[in-house]
Amino acid sequence: MPDSSSSSAKANGEGNSARRIVVLAGDGIGPEVTSAAITLLKNCAAVSDHRFEIVEMPFGGIAIDRCGKPLPIETLDACRSADAILLGAVGGPKWDSLPLDKRPESGLLGLRKELGLYVNLRPIRVRPALVGVSALRPERAQGVDIEIVRELAGGIYFGEHRSEVANGTERASDLESYTAQEIERVARFAFERATHRRKKLTSVDKANVLASSGLWRRVVTELGAKHSEVKLDHMYVDNAALQLVIAPQNFDVLLTSNMFGDILSDGAAGVAGSLGLIPSMSWGLGPSLYEPIHGSAPLLAGRDVACPIGAISSVAMLLRESFGLHREAAAVESAVDHVLESGIRTPDLAAPGDEIVGCSGFTARVGDALQERFSHDERYGWGV
Ligand code: IPM
Ligand code: MG
Repeated sequence: MPDSSSSSAKANGEGNSARRIVVLAGDGIGPEVTSAAITLLKNCAAVSDHRFEIVEMPFGGIAIDRCGKPLPIETLDACRSADAILLGAVGGPKWDSLPLDKRPESGLLGLRKELGLYVNLRPIRVRPALVGVSALRPERAQGVDIEIVRELAGGIYFGEHRSEVANGTERASDLESYTAQEIERVARFAFERATHRRKKLTSVDKANVLASSGLWRRVVTELGAKHSEVKLDHMYVDNAALQLVIAPQNFDVLLTSNMFGDILSDGAAGVAGSLGLIPSMSWGLGPSLYEPIHGSAPLLAGRDVACPIGAISSVAMLLRESFGLHREAAAVESAVDHVLESGIRTPDLAAPGDEIVGCSGFTARVGDALQERFSHDERYGWGV
């Protein structure tokens, strides 16, 4: 990971002092999956000398209902002073008729912008136990291990949005715009990730049509000249959508813009097996934010059927990337794999013969598997 604000200092220096994690559960299934994530964090703390201070703050639709806005200033301030942020999901039909800049989603965009989180990292990995759940044939799905690096603080999401009526015609427009600096800083992150992986970077754009993509390609190419150890190639986004389903094993790190990254990562989640599986890290100038990439899934909310793996894997990412707790992160990941290998599944992942459990049931099984890893494996050196 590139040198950043403060993450490496936090990872190394603070001994046993509590690390402050601000939790934004949000809406729909957000509270259920973040509760799963918190359970796992507490399990980690219980068997180690790591201490986590969990601070829950209102965010999204629930914050609109309680405080009149999706990102109350108290929530933003708490996030600014956090060591890491864990988020569930935001949005729902209750708030869909609000103007765009008042909706829960605008709180999420505001939070990313305010914290200077310009990188969004979305790992797409086909877990061996879930090859059969992938939307693709097993021979195409197995071994897929991609990191999507999505630009998160610029592009069409943050360009000018206009709606007007001129000469009796209604028109709306959104501006896709990037500066060279915005492209370079996210590209630098992507090259760094590729350097520590299989050393292949695919930059995805639409340079045959868009001026912003032309600049994107030029800046990435220039940076590529300074990273000769990484094999850089460029791909148009329409072709990338195709390649992700016919040859996903060919990707290592995929770098792209805010909008293209939003779309391609949901598609790639189908390759992994379910949108519920994929975690993410938003990274930049302020504290990093971790969240599953799925939405608030209003139809699943309150039924204890949501898949908590995206949220639990976000905890693993948080432990590794923000706190440098590599062994603990690996233990969480391995506990999830173990439960899946035992044929225990949430409904979205189930095949005939599996034991179907809910969000809380799955989390409890992961907690048990984690406990087992901690207590039976001397190498972890827990509690020392
Ligand atoms: C995501 C989501 C968000 C986005 C929405 C909720 C604003 O789809 O994190 O992928 O578009 O970035
Ligand atoms: Mg999305």
